[in-house]
Amino acid sequence: MRKILLTLAAGIPALIGTAQAQGPGVDFEKDIWPIFEKKCVSCHKAPYEDNGRTKKPKAELRLDGAWAITMGSENGSVLEAGKADESELYIRVTLPQDDDDFMPPTGKDIDPLTKEEMELSLIHI
Ligand code: HEC
Repeated sequence: MRKILLTLAAGIPALIGTAQAQGPGVDFEKDIWPIFEKKCVSCHKAPYEDNGRTKKPKAELRLDGAWAITMGSENGSVLEAGKADESELYIRVTLPQDDDDFMPPTGKDIDPLTKEEMELSLIHI
């Protein structure tokens, strides 16, 4: 699978801004969280025990909070402030659905992001 190494974001992603209600009327809890909760967090959340085994977040990436998102993944930052087209988070959800890197992965019974949801992520990166 393709691995994209990203330089660590220098700026503070707008997503944090939204968590602090600085965004243009958009709020992480209210606007972004419901999308991630429904479509991403089953695989990207805090480690948990399942049948005596510790399940870790995929790619070490947690999406269960604005602070967690800014921690990035095992490959580094997933958000580049002000640069949606360089942000792994945005790239992954807007790829063609048959791309190996598409998120949420196909075949898992999870709907892709709608156009509105993608635009919401775009505005906030
Ligand atoms: C069914 C499990 C599953 C769901 C649901 C899921 N992911 Fe993933 N995600 C993975 C796996 C497995 C990887 C690691 C393999 C890879 O890089 O494709 C990954 C990797 C990623 C990466 C790359 C991290 C890096 O830097 O390598 C991003 C970004 C990502 N996911 C975002 C999302 C977003 C946003 C959603 C919701 C729209 C989502 N994922 C939903 C399983 C999932």
